[in-house]
Amino acid sequence: MKLDIQKVTGFIPQEKIFAREGEALSHIKALYKKTGKGNDFLGWVKLPSSIGDGEFTAVEDVAHFYRDNDVEIVVVIGIGGSYLGAKATLEALSDNFWQMKKREHPKVIFAGQNISEDYLYELLDLLETRKYGIVVISKSGTTTEPAVAFRLLKAHLEGKIGKAKAKDRIVAVTDAKRGALHTLAVQEGYRTFVIPDDVGGRYSVLTPVGLLPIAVAGFDIRQLVQGAADMQKATAPEVAFADNPAAVYAATRIELYKAGKTTEILAGYHPKLLYVTEWWKQLYGESEGKENKGIFPAGVTLTADLHSMGQYIQEGLRNIFETVISVERTAHKLRIPKDAENLDTLNFLADKRIDEVNKMAELGTMLAHVDGGVPNIRIEIPAINEYNLGTLFYFFEIACGISGYLLGVNPFDQPGVEAYKKNMFALLDKPGFEEESKKVKARL
Ligand code: PA5
Repeated sequence: MKLDIQKVTGFIPQEKIFAREGEALSHIKALYKKTGKGNDFLGWVKLPSSIGDGEFTAVEDVAHFYRDNDVEIVVVIGIGGSYLGAKATLEALSDNFWQMKKREHPKVIFAGQNISEDYLYELLDLLETRKYGIVVISKSGTTTEPAVAFRLLKAHLEGKIGKAKAKDRIVAVTDAKRGALHTLAVQEGYRTFVIPDDVGGRYSVLTPVGLLPIAVAGFDIRQLVQGAADMQKATAPEVAFADNPAAVYAATRIELYKAGKTTEILAGYHPKLLYVTEWWKQLYGESEGKENKGIFPAGVTLTADLHSMGQYIQEGLRNIFETVISVERTAHKLRIPKDAENLDTLNFLADKRIDEVNKMAELGTMLAHVDGGVPNIRIEIPAINEYNLGTLFYFFEIACGISGYLLGVNPFDQPGVEAYKKNMFALLDKPGFEEESKKVKARL
């Protein structure tokens, strides 16, 4: 992975970014020594290098079980950090049209990330005729969205194949001791994986939360973790600031923020990366957006969004900067054919790779946006594969920790998420919310 901040230095001098060196490096030390804010949630920092063969094998066993038993679909139930890492990886690594193609491994689909009645109805309708399994993921074990989805799917599966067989097809990923899901899993005898106490949801992609669905879908979790472990080394406390991409990225974005660039747009040129952006948005939004501070994380998929958001990026409010994930090599090669009649006037592109056109769009867009007042950070990965996704995940996580500390917030809590839950429970007359219920209803 390469980080390039050349197209930022026209907006803020490189010296200003490098003046953050001492601070950034001390924050990395704080993450390692657990001396900063949120220090009870730092289990992810050394996680990649500490995952052992036994942990991989346990996860791979479940993947083999589903595959060997011809399970066609595995529904992964989870929300937020208990969903986005797996979703991002599966979308990035799968064929763009995987839903319509045959797969050697079970198709992994998601539920519990919304409370849409139509979504759940249509899901049950699909599952009616399919052989399926369920992986239910919730660290707290009490989150409403996945709990509702699991109640529906559990009842459906038990109704379809009986409680005993259903039990074998259900796997729970949750806290070691607490929460309703833990209690339920113990009582029902489900195979269970533990989310470590000191790893928060949005930093949990390299725990069974991410690894299990990724392995079930047939992808190489060892390579994913290897990529993350190599990035752990590349961003360790002893690495010099200039050589540490996470420290430089964090310092750059904080300097841009101080200069009024309060929105960061993560841009990708491959639709497969859409959910990597969604994962990144959650990571940064939930980690930094507090105490009336934080860079607003937005995302675009280009070139599609150049025909929608492109106008705003080029000429709208000048409070934005852009971070581009650039992919050096595509998985496939395809050239534009020559056409004898050239009625579409495209023969100037004949014999060129589609990716060359995409790359020129990328470079042209970067220059246009820089000219329009949008600083540009470029992150280049060699290809979209397990290893490089692992490097990206860890890079963004450690950079987020540093960046959150540079901002002065606790990047590992999410107190603001509770506000909607309180109102929703009050509106739904949950026992214990009687007083709130009266107050909230009076406000509607
Ligand atoms: O990052 C986080 O901590 C959150 O997004 C959680 O992952 C999300 O709220 C789901 O929580 P849980 O896994 O407890 O159901």
